[in-house]
Amino acid sequence: MSVHSLIKRRTAQDIQIRKSGEPIVSLTAYTAAMAGIVDEVADFILVGDSLGMVVYGLDSTVPVTLEMMILHGQAVMRATRHALIVVDMPFGSYEESREQALRNAARILKETGCGAVKLEGGARMAQTIRFLVERGVPVMGHIGLTPQAVNTLGGFKAQGRSKAQWPAILADAEAVAQAGAFAMVVEAVAEPLAAQITEGVGIPTIGIGASAACDGQILVLDDMLGLTGRVPKFVKTYGNLAAEVRQAVTGYADDVRARRFPGADHVYSVKAE
Ligand code: KIV
Repeated sequence: MSVHSLIKRRTAQDIQIRKSGEPIVSLTAYTAAMAGIVDEVADFILVGDSLGMVVYGLDSTVPVTLEMMILHGQAVMRATRHALIVVDMPFGSYEESREQALRNAARILKETGCGAVKLEGGARMAQTIRFLVERGVPVMGHIGLTPQAVNTLGGFKAQGRSKAQWPAILADAEAVAQAGAFAMVVEAVAEPLAAQITEGVGIPTIGIGASAACDGQILVLDDMLGLTGRVPKFVKTYGNLAAEVRQAVTGYADDVRARRFPGADHVYSVKAE
């Protein structure tokens, strides 16, 4: 038995039973280096399709492919031991049919070894969620602002700011929970609505821009570290890594330009033949 198999990684069930309990800590991570650090504190790590915008500089998550998600999922899995790893199903990989969703979710689970997938959509995705869960795929839902629908939503807009929208969003939450999801992300919804959703469903709600009413919180790691330029208004930055990186690369460039080549004092000697 390997040492790694003695360490128990969190499962979807471990997250599910935290409903109304100790708040669930979550962040995104896309690379081995960052995931290894986040693993020390997070209950679950999301390999989010936000990587399309954060890592690849895309304008939205729409162009992200299954292959991209699998490669980053593999990197994050290799670097982590404790947190549950959830990998996003990208746009176009699950909406066509329940069979398509199962085929691609199975690829994600098999090829990364992660513990769960996440997909966006409420009532319209409920049948698909049920189909996956009944066949052994733990699913995290995602309602409210669903960024993959940016082209139909008309932008990355907060949801539920008009009370007229509430019944549909509450029905989404109910449908996702009833379908067997173990938790759901609630993104960018008005605070009283987030509270109603959280009270109304029996699974944990993970808020992002959805107030403290939820059972847990998630942020995009690069946003909270101050690495990305423009961040949503609700993001609290806990670091200013962009400034630190700028200082480090400037120091390096200054050294090179002054011929203080780094490492020059550690030259390799020639081996005696
Ligand atoms: O892709 C992502 O990072 C997400 C989070 C914003 C919840 O879905």
